[in-house]
Amino acid sequence: MLYRGKTALVTGGSSGIGLEFARALAGRGASLVLVARSEERLRCAAAGIESEYGVGVETMAADLSEKASVVRVGDALAGREPGVLVNNAGNGHYGRFVEGPGAEEVWDEVSLNVASAAALTRALLPGMIRRGEGAVINLSSTAAFQPVPYMAAYGAGKAFMLSFSEALWAECRGTGVRVMAVCPGAVETGFWSDWGGRDPRRYNYLTGISRPEQIAEAGLSALDSGKVSFVPGVRDRILARSIALAPRPFVARASEWVNRLKPGR
Ligand SMILES: NC(=O)c1ccc[n+]([C@@H]2O[C@H](COP(=O)([O-])OP(=O)(O)OC[C@H]3O[C@@H](n4cnc5c(N)ncnc54)[C@H](OP(=O)(O)O)[C@@H]3O)[C@@H](O)[C@H]2O)c1
Repeated sequence: MLYRGKTALVTGGSSGIGLEFARALAGRGASLVLVARSEERLRCAAAGIESEYGVGVETMAADLSEKASVVRVGDALAGREPGVLVNNAGNGHYGRFVEGPGAEEVWDEVSLNVASAAALTRALLPGMIRRGEGAVINLSSTAAFQPVPYMAAYGAGKAFMLSFSEALWAECRGTGVRVMAVCPGAVETGFWSDWGGRDPRRYNYLTGISRPEQIAEAGLSALDSGKVSFVPGVRDRILARSIALAPRPFVARASEWVNRLKPGR
């Protein structure tokens, strides 16, 4: 796909995987609009990308767990005819569902991880289809392939992102627009600071651990090859395929065992 001259909207583009998608797109000549909550981190990310790649970078501070903010971002961008949408902003909490964050925070988490991505896609995809080109990249996770006890709402949200992407991939065939889900395993980012001090390396015995820049580069290559979904890393790909063959109650119990907080992990 040609990115030069296109505008790419990257949600959660101020750090981690979103920042690396932004840098990878800028390296291919796209100008950027980055959205996240912290204005200061957005400004810092934009300045770094502008000086490194010489592309235009705009920032919009918005809390995408709020419906009004999502509508504002969608409306502002729809008129700009963005060629690429990366639905990346997301967060989650670790812990037994009934003991974790209360109903209001659960609402915010699901709104951010699921509703904001669906609504932004609804706002921007029609323009891409009309113009006959564009791409939507949705950040799912290997959490999409099985229920995830102790991250129940987060895992379910990532399953939504995978299913949503696959459905739109099929609907968009022949339009010139690509839709793809990226499903990473553990990636070394600030994301893990919200997981009760857990360390992504605890999953090393099962899968690999990636750097965010690897996810972005490999993700854009997978998009170029027309994939509907992309699981970075051979071990994670094998695991995702194997899980699909096992009975769901067994998978749920095994996942509970893997994710249970054990001393020293
Ligand atoms: N790291 C992993 O192991 C991993 C694995 C699989 C999938 N993923 C997915 O990859 C995506 C990016 O995660 P990451 O690891 O790069 O996390 P990260 O480093 O914590 O970055 C999250 C980004 O989202 C923004 N954000 C968070 N809450 C927001 C809100 N309410 N409204 C707007 N922006 C918000 C953050 O900026 P502000 O805080 O300033 O808003 C930041 O730019 C997420 O969807 C995550 O579920 C991560």
